[in-house]
Amino acid sequence: MEIVICADQESVGQAAADTFESVIRRKPNAVVGLATGSSPLPLYEELERRTLHGRLTFRNARAFTLDEYIGLPEGHPETYKEVIDRVFTTRVDIEPANVRGPNGNAPDLEIEASDYERAILAAGGIDVQVLGVGTNGHIGFNEPGSSLGSRTRVKTLLPQTRLDNARFFTDQEEVPHHVITQGIGTIMDARRVVLMATGEQKAGAVARLAEGSVSAMCPGSMLQLHPRVRVIIDEAAASQLALADYYRYTYQNKPAWQHL
Ligand code: F6R
Repeated sequence: MEIVICADQESVGQAAADTFESVIRRKPNAVVGLATGSSPLPLYEELERRTLHGRLTFRNARAFTLDEYIGLPEGHPETYKEVIDRVFTTRVDIEPANVRGPNGNAPDLEIEASDYERAILAAGGIDVQVLGVGTNGHIGFNEPGSSLGSRTRVKTLLPQTRLDNARFFTDQEEVPHHVITQGIGTIMDARRVVLMATGEQKAGAVARLAEGSVSAMCPGSMLQLHPRVRVIIDEAAASQLALADYYRYTYQNKPAWQHL
């Protein structure tokens, strides 16, 4: 796990975009994994800038999103399909038909979940997955207690997660109770993972996922077992890391050949 501590949100976005750019330059038809929420926004803004400047193209890329609410009406602005359209698909040059997410209104959600797993496999697997982390350590919507080997399935949100996400809705009661999410096993199959976190409210989760025991109580801690993870955070999110100085030193002295 490489931990990159940045001065501010903008540099978090740039560092994450560097990983995306290096993957797409090497493999123009890469499969990218997208997250919603606030954390990846600086990445999507930077990818838009780099696309506009002709430095990067998603023309041949495909994308899969992590998760979706269950039961929000199609077209609701907070469905993750609409969010990803707004923050990513319409801002870069990716073919909209090549961006797929789980359907939270599918008539049979178990079939939808296994179809989604199959679609990711058929696309060749995810080359680079961006993640945020919940204040409780969740990744995707794999809440504490989730099986560390789980695949795409339906989960129930914890009250704290509904409260954290209420800022996107007019009324807290509008936040759905259920979601369909890639499992931890699905996320672990991505070839590379970039986890972004900013702000002091994420400091506890970041410390537990990077330096705590691997445990279902902190689903993000499973990433300690993944061979290629970059955790890109700002100073506030790094404030509870025991080895923060070591991570800074390592990154500052990173040899050019040791790229991710
Ligand atoms: C979003 C997702 C969640 C968020 C997490 C952090 O698709 O799967 O795990 O990444 O809840 O959310 P933000 O970034 O809004 O703090």
